[in-house]
Parts: sequence; C-alpha cells; structure tokens
Amino acid sequence: MEQQHNKGQWGSSFGFLMAAVGSAVGLGNLWGFPYKMGINGGFAFLLLYLILVVFVGFVICAGELALGRHTGKGVVGAYKSIDKKYSFIGWFGWISPLLILGFYCMLGGYCIKYALANLGDLFGAGWGVGDTDSGAFFTDFYTDQLQTVIYSVIFVLLTIFIVRAGVSGGIEKFTKIAMPALFLMLVIVIIRSVTLPGASEGLEFMFKPNWEVFKGSGFISVLAAAGGQMFFSLSLGMGITVTYGSYMKKNENIERNALIIPFADTVIAIMAGLAVMPAVFASGLDPAGGPGLLFVTLQTVFQAMGKLGPLFGFLLYGLVFIAAITSSIALLEAVSAVIMDKRAEKGKPIDRKTTTTVMGLIVMAEAILISLDGLGANGFPQFFGQSNWLDAFDLVSEGVLMPLGACYMAIILPTKLVDEEITLEGNKFRTQMFFDFCIKFVAPLMMVLVLIGQIDTFFGLKIFS
Ligand code: PHE
Repeated sequence: MEQQHNKGQWGSSFGFLMAAVGSAVGLGNLWGFPYKMGINGGFAFLLLYLILVVFVGFVICAGELALGRHTGKGVVGAYKSIDKKYSFIGWFGWISPLLILGFYCMLGGYCIKYALANLGDLFGAGWGVGDTDSGAFFTDFYTDQLQTVIYSVIFVLLTIFIVRAGVSGGIEKFTKIAMPALFLMLVIVIIRSVTLPGASEGLEFMFKPNWEVFKGSGFISVLAAAGGQMFFSLSLGMGITVTYGSYMKKNENIERNALIIPFADTVIAIMAGLAVMPAVFASGLDPAGGPGLLFVTLQTVFQAMGKLGPLFGFLLYGLVFIAAITSSIALLEAVSAVIMDKRAEKGKPIDRKTTTTVMGLIVMAEAILISLDGLGANGFPQFFGQSNWLDAFDLVSEGVLMPLGACYMAIILPTKLVDEEITLEGNKFRTQMFFDFCIKFVAPLMMVLVLIGQIDTFFGLKIFS
C-alpha cells in the first residue's frame, strides 16, 4: 500500500487478489454476518444477501475497479475526474471508513482480550475465562470501561504503527500464512459446532426456507440489513476498491477479480455463520443476541471442548484479530490517503507519518467513546434510534453513506467507460449485458430500497409497520 503515493502497481495478479481479499475478509464476515443473520431470521437474510452479492456486489465491485484503473486516482480524485461536481461522492467514501474504524478498533480490542483470556486458560492462569459462564464473562468485560478502552487503544496503536511504516513485505507474508490458517481453523470450529447435540436447528435456521421475518415491515428491513452488511463486508461504496483498482495493471482481468473477491468473501461469511449458528442453538442461546454473538457463542463452544478448548480459542480469536488488523490497516490507509492526496495537490509535502498519526488519533478518540458506551450498558445518550453507539455508527456508515455513495456511482458511471476499461488488451467482458442492465436498473433500485429501509430505522419512522 506504500504504492499509494508513488502511484505504483500491484506486483502480480495474485498479490492484488490477496490484498483485496485480505481487506475484504475481516470482522464484517466473522463478527457481523452471523449476528446480523441471527437478528434477521436466518434463511431469509442469507437468501437476500446472496441475491444482493450477485446483482449489486459484483457490479459495484467491477464498476469501482474499472473507475479506479481508468482514472488512476484515489476515491476523491477518481470521482472528480468524471466531473468536478461529483467529488462529494468521494468524500462519502472518506467519512464511512472513518466512522467504521471507531467500532472496528473496539471489536479488534475484544479479539485481543479473548485471545489472551484463552491463552490464560491454556496455562491455568487466573485471568482466563475459567469456569465462568461465557455470557457473564462477556458482560463483565464489555461493561468494564477501563478494560475495553485499554484494549481498543492497543488495537488502534497497532494499526497506526503498521500504517505509519507503510505496509511492508512482512505483513503481506504474514497474511499469506494467517489467512489460510484462519480458513483451516474455521473448518475445525465448524466441524465441532455442527456435531454438537442440537446443532441441526442452527442449520435449519440458515438453510430451511422460512419467511416469517418478512411479515409486516420485515422484507424491507431485512433487505436493508443485508444490503448494508454486503457493502461493509465487500469493502464497497467507500473508496477502497476504487483505490485498489487504480494500482491494477492494464492487462489485468477486472471482470474475473470482481467475481472472485465477492465470492471468496461470501464463502468466508457463510463459514462464519456455520461456525456460530449451530453452536448458538446447541447452547440454547438466542440467535438474535446481537453484537456479542461471536464472543459468547464460540467461547461456549471452546469451553465445551475440554482441555483443547483454550488452544482452539486462542487460535481462533487470534486469527480473527489478524483478519481484523489487515482490514483496519486498509481502512486507515484509505482515510489517510485522501488527506495525503490533498496535500500533494496543494504542493505541500505528503508527510505520511504525521497524517496517519493524526487520523489514527481521531480514530482513537472515537474508539474510546464507543468503548465507554459499553454496547449501550453505561447509560450513554442514544441516537438514531439505536440502543448503542456501535450500532449508530454502523448505521450511518454502512446503512446510509455506503449505499448512497454506491447508488450515485451506479447512476453517474458511464457504462462505456467500464466496457472500454474491462476489454483493454484483449480481455473479454463476458457479463457485459448483465453488468449494463444491473448497474443502471437493478443496483440503483435495490440501493434505494436499502436506503429507505435504513432511513426508516434511522429516524425511527416505522413507515412499513
Ligand atoms: N470488509 C471488511 C470487513 O468485512 C471491512 C473493511 C471495509 C475493510 C473497508 C477495509 C475496507 O471486515
């Protein structure tokens, strides 16, 4: 990512793909997807999510990559080069990651805590989870303001540290091992989870057609939740994919990458669902348990695994932490890059270190505030109809700004530009008709529906109930 300001290019197709998948796979898949599916009726959410990935995710991903490569610019510059009046769309893509980072870093801190607690158990130390009920352990932790603030700050500092240095070969090499390791750990946890007594109910919840949640205002709110989740998880509608596209070589196949990235990301999300949901039902927990689900359920599974449990717990939460940090680096890089671009435009020195540190400190302030809120347990004022600050920040970014930005993009992006860009150097554009139709009609329509659903929640309008 150092290349950002030397305007470099990805070394290899594989390197690009890994960087893109590494940024896409993160807490969105492992933490967000299972809990949002749990709140939104399981099967119905999964189905809408898959439809959205195909009809919206793929096309927006292809469009953003093409826009980035065509203009060779970061998000604000890219929209500006279509037309000056569109640079505001780029700024949406700057605010979203800034908001996301606040709660992302808090959750990253939770992962550090859980990896350490399991490590403690492994050595029989007093600071582990021990025999404490995993629900009670989680509540004690997230309501403890000092602890959550400390872990969040550690996570922010690690992110700043890596981005300040520029992402070296080290982290890339590291993720090349960590990502497959995460995949393997997920497989192990899935096997354990689906073989727990009572687990089949969790599988039914995910895969057996059930339209119960669509009753009343259900359809639109499930669609809105699935849409927001999709933008978040695929890193769309917030400039990251445009920026990554700007480093692609001209002979690189955009269409193929736009298929592989959403596919890989969705596979990991479904795997996370398979790891969490059967265990939720097997342990008699509530699938609609909210943001704590990943921490409570999987910890329950590890506790039930006997002696080896803490080892698996340490590895899994450790790997989730790594997936989170590879994403938070991308988020902070994207936020800082826009400022560095601006400075360069004005002929000022770029100063990567100061910019990332200043942006990182803003993120730290957000993360501290959101941690102090303790998932709404500490009596903070509530806003946007949400019961906690994490959800409120999440709603503004993934619920409103991202679909709005992507919707604008779909409307203003000339299909000719995309067609030409994708077919450069003899590449074929096999899905061209599908793309042209979806980007102009299906995607904007779906995004408007997503927005209406989110705004309904946002202002507590209850239009559809
Ligand atoms: N897609 C990441 C996730 O699912 C979050 C992210 C968004 C990372 C944007 C980088 C850029 O966790």
